[in-house]
Amino acid sequence: MAAERPVLVLDRVTGGYGGAEIIHEISIILGRGEIVTLIGPNGAGKSSVMNAVLGTLVIGGGRILLHGEDITGTPPERVVRRGVSYVPQTANVFPNLTVNENLEMGAYVRTDDFRPRMDEMYELFAPLAGRRRSPAGTLSGGQRQMVAIAKALMVEPDILLLDEPTAGLSPRFREEIFAVVEDVNARGTPILMVEQNARQALGIADRGYVLVDGRNRTDGTGAGLLADPEVGAMFLGGGTAEPAPAPSPGAPIGTPAGTARGEARAGRRDPDARPPSAPGARRR
Ligand SMILES: Nc1ncnc2c1ncn2[C@@H]1O[C@H](COP(=O)(O)OP(=O)(O)OP(=O)(O)O)[C@@H](O)[C@H]1O
Ligand SMILES: [Mg+2]
Repeated sequence: MAAERPVLVLDRVTGGYGGAEIIHEISIILGRGEIVTLIGPNGAGKSSVMNAVLGTLVIGGGRILLHGEDITGTPPERVVRRGVSYVPQTANVFPNLTVNENLEMGAYVRTDDFRPRMDEMYELFAPLAGRRRSPAGTLSGGQRQMVAIAKALMVEPDILLLDEPTAGLSPRFREEIFAVVEDVNARGTPILMVEQNARQALGIADRGYVLVDGRNRTDGTGAGLLADPEVGAMFLGGGTAEPAPAPSPGAPIGTPAGTARGEARAGRRDPDARPPSAPGARRR
């Protein structure tokens, strides 16, 4: 059963950038095999949560556990070596380097032969296969995001952190990136993903957390949050999120079909990976 413990736990983490506290007693769990999404308004502290895990936020309280081991305050390079890979929202590729060179840069901490991994990346990110020799800066926004994700995957991480992977992309490329995120996850990598496109993110997520003003506001399964009226009013009705699509048989939102998918994914969940704000969840 010990193998079923969550891969990543933030346990009442408080922190900032040396001045005022930015996040306050944030608790988040990423279970084995999960996609977990963080949503919330601009400035809510979503990226700061990523920074807390990566060791670039000054932690004032709480603990961060990776595979049950305390990594609170561990410097970024050591966090990466311990299996956490991160794709920042911006400046996440080297635009003047080719796609191939970007992937090589992603593998810089590897001392073994990473060619097989590279081949795997070109299989997973098929649109990149024909662009190996192109400078990353010449690719479309969607393909650049694929390079950024593939680069982060070169180390075969235990966990992938994605900060707004679909920001600024057209709906078509957004779809492609969300599909890629699902593929990567299906191949075994748990993913913690910040997203502004809340509807689509919750649609592919096992669970989600809503952060507001640096605090946990609510959490639940992706399907549960999609059906939550407060979440709907905050994120799914307009503004920062996608407008609700017209109901169609292919994409039911908050319907039994949509729920069934969430429940099917939830069915293989780690029993320990319950939302930390739920009563009784704070056990070790
Ligand atoms: N390096 C930094 N130094 C000081 N303050 C920072 C720094 N980065 C972010 N902040 C502040 O921390 C707060 C939370 O920012 P953060 O980037 O974590 O929010 P976010 O939820 O990711 O927002 P967005 O949706 O705009 O990306 C904001 O008030 C921001 O101004
Ligand atoms: Mg951010």
